[in-house]
Order: sequence, then structure tokens, then C-alpha cells
Amino acid sequence: MSDNGKTGGATRRGFLTGAMAAGAGIAAAGAARAEGDPAITELQPWNQYLGDGVDARPYGYPSEFEKHVKRRNVEWLTADTVSSVNFTPLHELDGIITPNGLCFERHHAGIAEVDPAKHRIMINGLVDTPLVFTMEDLMRFPRENRVYFLECAANSGMEWRGAQLNGCQFTHGMIHNVMYTGVPLRYLLEEAGVKTNGKWVMPEGADASAMTRSIPLEKAMDDCLVAFKMNGEALRPEQGYPVRLVVPGWEGNMWVKWLRRIEVGDQPWHHREETSKYTDLMEDGKARRFTWEMDAKSVITNPSPQAPILHSRGRTVLTGVAWSGRGTIPRVDVTIDGGKNWHQARMDGPSFDKSMHRFYYEFDWDGSPLLLQSRAHDSTGYVQPTKDELRAIRGENSIYHNNGIQTWYVNEQGIAENVEIS
Ligand code: MTE
Ligand code: CO
Repeated sequence: MSDNGKTGGATRRGFLTGAMAAGAGIAAAGAARAEGDPAITELQPWNQYLGDGVDARPYGYPSEFEKHVKRRNVEWLTADTVSSVNFTPLHELDGIITPNGLCFERHHAGIAEVDPAKHRIMINGLVDTPLVFTMEDLMRFPRENRVYFLECAANSGMEWRGAQLNGCQFTHGMIHNVMYTGVPLRYLLEEAGVKTNGKWVMPEGADASAMTRSIPLEKAMDDCLVAFKMNGEALRPEQGYPVRLVVPGWEGNMWVKWLRRIEVGDQPWHHREETSKYTDLMEDGKARRFTWEMDAKSVITNPSPQAPILHSRGRTVLTGVAWSGRGTIPRVDVTIDGGKNWHQARMDGPSFDKSMHRFYYEFDWDGSPLLLQSRAHDSTGYVQPTKDELRAIRGENSIYHNNGIQTWYVNEQGIAENVEIS
């Protein structure tokens, strides 16, 4: 205990000395505020009563002071709440894991409440032996733990023609990053025996939308998981309880929830979600088909429109997240002056393939307006494009796969706004 105290003290002193050396003046300001501060001089209410016992919260939930940390809708997108979407509050999170209760939701027919005892997973089509698994059967296969991001292909879709929504929760919040526990899909397919002409698989959901997508067999045999746990506990109903398909690095729509069937075929099915939806309309009116992989992307989560800078100047922590459907993110560049000067951000936290990465850039803010941008580099060497570069190739009619660089304008008061610079 005393050892910990000493270490903490040394670290804090180190930080304050550093800040003063940098001329930030944060130590002086902090000391002045402490003088006569009732938070220090007065006994607080929580110091004077016995708190809840261990039986009060059998399943824990966040502090009541964190009530603002929640998934939110965009009103004009959510006329119908069962075929709809809400958004992850990225600006309230740190590290790389999205807590289960904050993972954005996208469903086409509402949340199915599936009884695991009555749930079955069928493998049929071009297989030697069609099979049906119960949840118990599934648990008897070797399982793996992997951290992956899921990004809806429509994330940032509302920003194609210009800056629109004010907050990274709304511009970038159709993403979550979770540790899944599941059985490699390969094991189930091998158990059934894929026939030599079997080249595609089609997962199907048990909800009223019966979501289906075509996935090439190579991907199914590579890294797809039939997952039943998220961040250590059972999947939430919103995320497909009791079982969902995990399709690492590929667009969220393919991650079929409430997974009940996998059909093996010799060609893609061209169902609704891969024809009228999830194709990218190009400038010439033609549509790109099968754009499964999510390109490298990043966003500054703090400061951002929902998370203004609260101090007037001095030491400021800028942070954000970056991800790529093709690998890891070894590097993120950050600018605070709209691209005149770029700085390499500090990556921190675990770096997993096809997972979110966390970056930081600490700087001394002089109180003048800022134009913040981040630019991700992925492990294939791909660099996140500007929105103009993206539009030059893709036109302005697209919805899906918008991975352009996001700009936040921060004024002298620290208030941030969604803008574009060209
Ligand atoms: N699976 C089923 N069965 N039904 C659905 O409506 N929505 C898809 C996909 N899988 C959907 C589904 C879409 S478009 C996305 S982006 C992801 O699930 C969203 O996953 P989440 O709700 O865990 O965020
Ligand atoms: Co989606």
C-alpha cells in the first residue's frame, strides 16, 4: 500500500514538473483552485453513510454520474425503431474495448429474444452430411478468443456529401470492438464435410429479417468464428444472443446475428443485402459489388463536438481510434492545424489484427482555433484518404465504405464542430 502511494506520488510530481517545464502552468492553476475548495475542505455526504451492501447489485452497472454515457439515435434516421440503428458513444470511451452495454445496434427486424435451449444451428447444402447443432454441441468444439472491430458499411455514410452530424458518436459510432469467444466456423464445416464444388457459404439469421449474405468459402475457412461470448459473458440479445457469426475485418452486415443456418453453395446467392443494399453506387451509375473488406480509418474522439476542451489553454490530451479490415495499425498521424504540420501519434494498448487501436497526441494548446485531423496507416502500407480523394474515385452518391479523413474545428472556447476543409 505505502509502496503504491510512493510510486503514485513520484509519478504525479514527475508529471507536474514536466508540465511546468513545458510552460503549461497547470500545476499553479491546480494549486490555486485547491485553496478553499469545498471539495477538499468540507466533509462529503458519501463520507457519512454506510453504502450499499454486496447484495444490492448482483449484476453491476455504471455510476449514476455516468448516465450520459449511452447509445444514441439520430432522430431523422430512426423513424422506425425496429429497423434501425443507434451509435456507440466513442467520445466517452478509452482503450480499445467497447463495453457490452454500449455496443451500437443495427437490426432489420428488431431484437430477437431467442431461447438457447430451442436454438439450433444447421449446416446444409453442398456438404457430405447435413448437421444440426444445439448450443451444447457447439460448446464441445475447441474455442478461440479474438478481439475484432465490427463496423457497419454505412458508418459515416451520412457524411458523403459534406459534414453533417455533430459528434463522432454519430459520424463514426457504427462500430464496436469486442473480444469474442467462439468456435472457428472451419471446424463446423469440416465436421459436415464440404463437397468439392462447395465454394460459398450463406449464413442465415433466426430473427424476422432472416438476414442472409454470401461469403466465399476461403474466408469461412480462414478466420470466421461462430461466437457465443462477448467480452467474457454471453452475447447480449442486441448482438445476436445466443450465437452470431464473426467475419473479421469485413462489413458488419455479414456478421449474421441469431445465427441459425449455414448453407454451402457453388455460387453467391445475390440476396437483397448484397444487391439493392451494400453495393456502392459509383459516379457513372454503375455499382461496385462485394466490397467486403473495411478500409483503414481513424477518428479523433477527444476533443470532438460532444467532448469540448474544458480548460482555456495548456496541456491537452488528444485521443482517438483507428482500425483496418486488412491488419493492424502501426501508425496514425495527427494534425491540429488542418494539415500544415503532421505529428506521429503515440499508439498505446494492444495491437491486434482487425481490431481497434488507440492513439494519443499530447500538446500544449495556446487557446487559438484548431483544425484536428487523424490519418491511419495500416500494416499493408495503405494510408487513409482525404474525403476529396475518396470522392474523386467514388463520386458522391455512395453511402457505404466512407473512410475519409474527419476534420473537427475547435474554436477559442474549446467548442468543436464537424467541418470539411478542401
Ligand atoms: N443479423 C441479423 N440476423 N439481423 C440483422 O438485422 N444486421 C446486420 C448484422 N447482422 C443484422 C444482422 C448489420 S447491417 C450490422 S452493421 C451488424 O449486424 C450490426 O451488429 P450489432 O447490432 O452487433 O452492432
Ligand atoms: Co450494417
